[in-house]
Amino acid sequence: MARSPHSILVSDPAAYARGVPHDEFARLRQAGPIVWVDEVPLWRHSGEHGQMVSGAGYWAVTRHAAIVSISRQPALFSSAARGAFLADPKSREDLERTRQLLINMDAPEHTRLRQAVTSAFTPALVNNLRASIRAHAAELVQRMLDRESFDVVRDVAAELPLLVLADLLGIPYADRELLYQWSNQLVGFDDAEYGGGNVERYQRAYAEAYQYATDVARVRRRQPGDDLVSQLLQSAGVPLSDLEMCHLWVLLVVGGNESTRHLLSGALQALCEWPDERRRLAGAADLTATAVEELLRWISPVMQFRRTLTCDASFEGRRLSEGDKVVLYYVSANRDPDAFDAPERLDFGRPRNAHLAFGVGPHFCLGARLARLEAAELLDALRPHLPRLELTGPAVRLSSNFMNGIKSLPARLVPASS
Ligand code: HEM
Repeated sequence: MARSPHSILVSDPAAYARGVPHDEFARLRQAGPIVWVDEVPLWRHSGEHGQMVSGAGYWAVTRHAAIVSISRQPALFSSAARGAFLADPKSREDLERTRQLLINMDAPEHTRLRQAVTSAFTPALVNNLRASIRAHAAELVQRMLDRESFDVVRDVAAELPLLVLADLLGIPYADRELLYQWSNQLVGFDDAEYGGGNVERYQRAYAEAYQYATDVARVRRRQPGDDLVSQLLQSAGVPLSDLEMCHLWVLLVVGGNESTRHLLSGALQALCEWPDERRRLAGAADLTATAVEELLRWISPVMQFRRTLTCDASFEGRRLSEGDKVVLYYVSANRDPDAFDAPERLDFGRPRNAHLAFGVGPHFCLGARLARLEAAELLDALRPHLPRLELTGPAVRLSSNFMNGIKSLPARLVPASS
């Protein structure tokens, strides 16, 4: 009875194109803190050749307390054994490649690299970006005002993280289109419009991003600037090798960019769907910080990350076996009634908000401060115009079981006179 499957839906990228299956997650939370989920077969192809590929299934962890407990036992629930992504590595070689990314490491490699990154990616460095983030946010809001209508994703939510990454990493603004394409193809792998399950296209996008990062690292080693890449390469304590730099670069450009985009697009959508909260925020500048936390809880842009059992163990009364896949559903934990009062309500003044949108434990998001700052600056720039924000069409959602994403969302700022 240990593995009678409870759901297949939550593993299906296509299901999320209709919206996060919150009812299904509520059912899973009821069923227990850790329940077995079968994986839906997915179409994978390369050129002419394609096949349906199905993972072996996994333990879904849907309650807040259980995710915190597992995340604090990284020796038992490993990020490195099979990587932190739901899809299994295709080969030994693929696994080795995967393990070059910080997110797919365990101690001691993880501890060393993370220390190197945190000594360069400091709160002071992020705070120094505040003025430029504010200027970008103001410019984007001006563009919204100048147009009869706009797309929330393409014109606002995707733009801000790309402009900020360009500043952070010292790359030309014009190249942000490349970053946009790569992250769509990598994160949108299961979406027909972006990756389409095309392994060749995925590998090409990865190789291009990697080559770009290699070129940036080479230039910065010769001519350091005041950007994060230069800091990481020179860091007094533990400077990164070019190779480590490139892996980190891809993680920042793809992960940091896409997750922040979906926080911002989801935020604007939520503001339109909850007019009372929008009015509240429009009238109170001091609500921005708690509103950002609530939007992080509400949207959970990164819906899950994966761990793998390093040995047989029992957890919450279940026998788990070495090699079992365990998926931590932050998106579900963030609606867990045992952790939040009235979790189905968006409440910009929520007093206690221990959401897990940035994960918890040794892999806690390194970009949390930056993402919060971007969201706060955009909300502040939009505040005077918030009452006039109106959606003009339905959201087109991303087919992804990883990122709670919107691909397009038409909107306008209703002219003041109408
Ligand atoms: C709303 C925006 C964001 C969300 C929701 C988010 C979410 C997450 C989550 C859940 C993790 C934990 C991974 C795990 O436990 O395995 C993580 C890790 C990470 N995030 Fe973010 N992230 C966001 C923005 C950013 C930004 C802007 C950056 C950098 C520019 C960034 C860089 C990273 C890195 C480097 C890690 C790996 C940390 C490690 O493995 O030690 N993230 N993020």
